[in-house]
Amino acid sequence: MEPIKSSSAAAEEWICDALAMALADESPQALHRRLYLRLREEIELGRFAPGTRLPSSRRLAAALGVGRNTVISALDQLLHEGFIRSRRGAGSYVSRLEHPLPRALVAAPAPEDRGDAGLSSRGAALLALSSGVRDGGTTFVPGLPALDLFPWSSWRAIQARQLKRPPREWLGYQTQGGLPRLREVLCDYLRLSRSVRCTPEQIVITQGAQQAFMLIAQLLAEPGDLVWFEEPGYLGARAALLAAGLRLSPTPVDADGLDPTRGAGRPTLVYVTPSYQYPCGVTLSLERRLGLLAEAERSRAWVIEDDYDSEFRYGSKPLASLQGLGDGRRVLYVGTFSKVMYPGLGLGYLVLPPALIETFRTVSFRLARESHYPLQAALAEFIDTGAFTRHIRRCRDAYRERQAALRSALAPAIERGLELSSGEAGMHLLATHPKGIDEEELQRRGAREDVVLRGLSPLHLSGQRRSGLVLGYAAATVEQIERAGALLDGWLAQSGR
Ligand SMILES: Cc1ncc(COP(=O)(O)O)c(C=O)c1O
Repeated sequence: MEPIKSSSAAAEEWICDALAMALADESPQALHRRLYLRLREEIELGRFAPGTRLPSSRRLAAALGVGRNTVISALDQLLHEGFIRSRRGAGSYVSRLEHPLPRALVAAPAPEDRGDAGLSSRGAALLALSSGVRDGGTTFVPGLPALDLFPWSSWRAIQARQLKRPPREWLGYQTQGGLPRLREVLCDYLRLSRSVRCTPEQIVITQGAQQAFMLIAQLLAEPGDLVWFEEPGYLGARAALLAAGLRLSPTPVDADGLDPTRGAGRPTLVYVTPSYQYPCGVTLSLERRLGLLAEAERSRAWVIEDDYDSEFRYGSKPLASLQGLGDGRRVLYVGTFSKVMYPGLGLGYLVLPPALIETFRTVSFRLARESHYPLQAALAEFIDTGAFTRHIRRCRDAYRERQAALRSALAPAIERGLELSSGEAGMHLLATHPKGIDEEELQRRGAREDVVLRGLSPLHLSGQRRSGLVLGYAAATVEQIERAGALLDGWLAQSGR
């Protein structure tokens, strides 16, 4: 438990609450003694931090439902023994003790004190996959959309309207797979723009794509089952599959995307990003799509189609989804609002084959609950009114411009041999060099300039790692991109790249 340190009204409430609980039991000891002991314990254990202002005796007496003399007697004793000090007219404060009891006696150790000693082997593997997730910065962060272009005022107004009088059922436990209205408008959108074959019943709203991956891994595979996973591939999906105890088999990605003819063994699941492979930025060819669907039928495998940013396509019309190509029986289509809205929204969705609908709806409630119905209602209205599509269109234009700015800032490096992915879709470019790139050195330099340079090597499962940089260009303005791009070009030149 974090110590209570502030002297705010909220801290006073917490203190009164903690003490009220201590007095609630039926102890034969006198009230002032029990109050004294409880306060002393909280101070000794460091839960009321030094400098914390205690509520006045009048306030404490009222909150605890005891006489003021009881409180004064307890406080007097603490004052006498040096646990608190008092300033005339300013109240009583917790003293700094010479020898407070070790915090370890009470508080669960903070994770940083524990090291990884207490982790399961799966936990340690997940921790190893999580480095870099807490790095700050905006320029070149992969996956972060343009927060500067989001229509906050209309979104705020829609949310306020939906929150004004939420129907009672939105506030209780829900087991519908998400707000029906949101599933309806989303279904129309997916049918029209992504050629997904679906009905609103097939959709389950999740807390982002991440929760969809976790549900799939838990429900459709046994621990130890094989997953064909794109090599290199997305760490979020990898972590979710790993957490379910699955074995990930790196399956090569080339210019045509994942190659199903090079998959090893018989998979239970196959994870793919067909529209714009993360991180290589290639599109799964039609031949590979058909091959993959045939393989899924043959092995009775489920294909996880992660369609995370296909809205942003710059050249040709968006390709139809893999799910919509066949009969959709073996494909679970996963989408997210993290890119087209913003990641903090925490909403995504799954389109399920009909045979799995009921299972996913009920188990997703058991495992994770359904949440944010007013927010889901606001999102449904946002989509319904066309604001969603307008925002996507605006972002698409801006991303085209931002990508062009990145390419021109790196033009000298391209002259020297740097290679950039096609950029025909998505929000990032992959930069590689035939002679390799020193990712760590560039990351160190970038960190000093607020430039986030995520490496390609950690996205590999096998030991054969290509180095490179995953450069997200969506969240930064053209000016920021020009500056960071020029810096990166200079650093590459210094390293002979
Ligand atoms: C390949 C890929 N899939 C999915 C997501 C989105 O995940 P979520 O909805 O959990 O934010 C991302 C985000 O960066 C991504 O890069």
